[in-house]
Amino acid sequence: MSVQTGNTASPLAPEWLAVPADLNALQEPMWAGSVQRNGLGELTVGGRSVSELKQQFGTPLFVMDEADFRARARAFKDSFDAAFADICGGVDVYYAGKSFLCSAVVKWVEEEGLCLDTASGGELAVAARAGIAGERVALHGNNKSDAELNRALDMGLGRIVVDSLSELARVGDIAQSRGEQAKVMLRLTPGVHAHTHEFIATAHEDQKFGLSMAADTTEQAGLSAAEEAVAAASAHPGIDLLGLHCHIGSQIFEPDGFALAAEKLLRFLAAMQEKYSIVMPELDLGGGYGIAYTPVDTPRPAADIATAMAAVVRSTCAELGIESPRISIEPGRAIVGSTTFTLYEVGTLKTVRVDTPAASGGREDGNNVTYPRRYVSVDGGMSDNARPVLYDADYSAILASRTSAAAPQLSRVVGKHCESGDIVVRDVYLPEDVAAGDLLAVPGTGAYCWALSSNYNYLARPGVVAVRDGSARLIVRGETEEDLLNRDMGV
Ligand SMILES: Cc1ncc(COP(=O)(O)O)c(C=O)c1O
Repeated sequence: MSVQTGNTASPLAPEWLAVPADLNALQEPMWAGSVQRNGLGELTVGGRSVSELKQQFGTPLFVMDEADFRARARAFKDSFDAAFADICGGVDVYYAGKSFLCSAVVKWVEEEGLCLDTASGGELAVAARAGIAGERVALHGNNKSDAELNRALDMGLGRIVVDSLSELARVGDIAQSRGEQAKVMLRLTPGVHAHTHEFIATAHEDQKFGLSMAADTTEQAGLSAAEEAVAAASAHPGIDLLGLHCHIGSQIFEPDGFALAAEKLLRFLAAMQEKYSIVMPELDLGGGYGIAYTPVDTPRPAADIATAMAAVVRSTCAELGIESPRISIEPGRAIVGSTTFTLYEVGTLKTVRVDTPAASGGREDGNNVTYPRRYVSVDGGMSDNARPVLYDADYSAILASRTSAAAPQLSRVVGKHCESGDIVVRDVYLPEDVAAGDLLAVPGTGAYCWALSSNYNYLARPGVVAVRDGSARLIVRGETEEDLLNRDMGV
């Protein structure tokens, strides 16, 4: 058995991972707009260096570029408004708060002209605290409680997105008992399957969300659950039926799936309008636009997606002879994902030898060959980024506190939890001389990282700092040991 010590193009690396020409370079489009290296070689964001941020706030830390968040929010609003101007006068963009939510972000969303999509009473509480007008807020969820529905009505929500026939009846009854009408959208499953990881694709029929558009999915022969819901909603005195909604999945790059879903929903909307003599003025096409987590991800600009979707809406409405409903969309990840990187401090380093068959790039003599894999442990892990464990999600990382001229070495960035699956970045080339005390930055952690964070192993959840024009402010403070012990009722 021989031992390979070469540190370029390791056979242990996945096929998609190339050895970067320059390990110190920030590869587009994974990073927020203001991230760069300063004269000392350190990463800076919004004019603040990572060592300053580490000193002021500690690590791990979510570092968000506020201007970049605002720019991405505006890009969605402006490009969809422009593409749909002649079709329905513009588009309402609901930022999906489940991806990352706190009061400051609600404020930015409102200031940039967007609306807010929430999915629980807790998210509604954040919206209320931030003071956004209720009519600019939507409530989602497949199992909303009566308390959540009452809270939505108390806040005068612009829309409640109903997910099932039983919920429809409940929403209508609650609103009627209050002498009100709930503004309702019906979430449908259009059977458009997004090309993405199964756990985050939500358009399958065999899943918990939405009302099926397939025939015979209710007790009433021939009727789809979707049609039964339209009929029931339009007949219920407690319901003001605004329109239809769908969300076909997440981390989708090509616009075709969104366009097909739009077409299906428009055909259904036209058929329902004719059959039940009702007008549904709204159509919400959900979120799911992909971002770059690694150098091989190639997200489309918002304007390209908007143009493709607008073309289908325009031609379908013309063919059906209907006026286009007002369109809305719900991007989360594509607004916040790339605004943020997680800053970690490197601790333990360890190199293991991995056996692979010679055919995988080693010698052709039939013997196994071993290759080095370096484990770089950081001071966080699956508690601040559960996506690699949940979805096999890939990330990237870069040495942030300095540059290095050392050779690239295939590395695996791991956390400090008691799980061997506690992986932050499965495969990345980092400089050979990365050492304890260095800072690493993992880009693309703005969405579904802090939001999914936990206290596993009693780790304190990191804070989120927003940096802009040279000033950094905590928008969510990190937890302290006191926070961790607060809910323990004692001996
Ligand atoms: C109904 C709905 N809308 C919008 C989103 C946001 O998706 P993304 O963050 O991928 O844009 C989700 C995500 O799960 C969703 O379920």
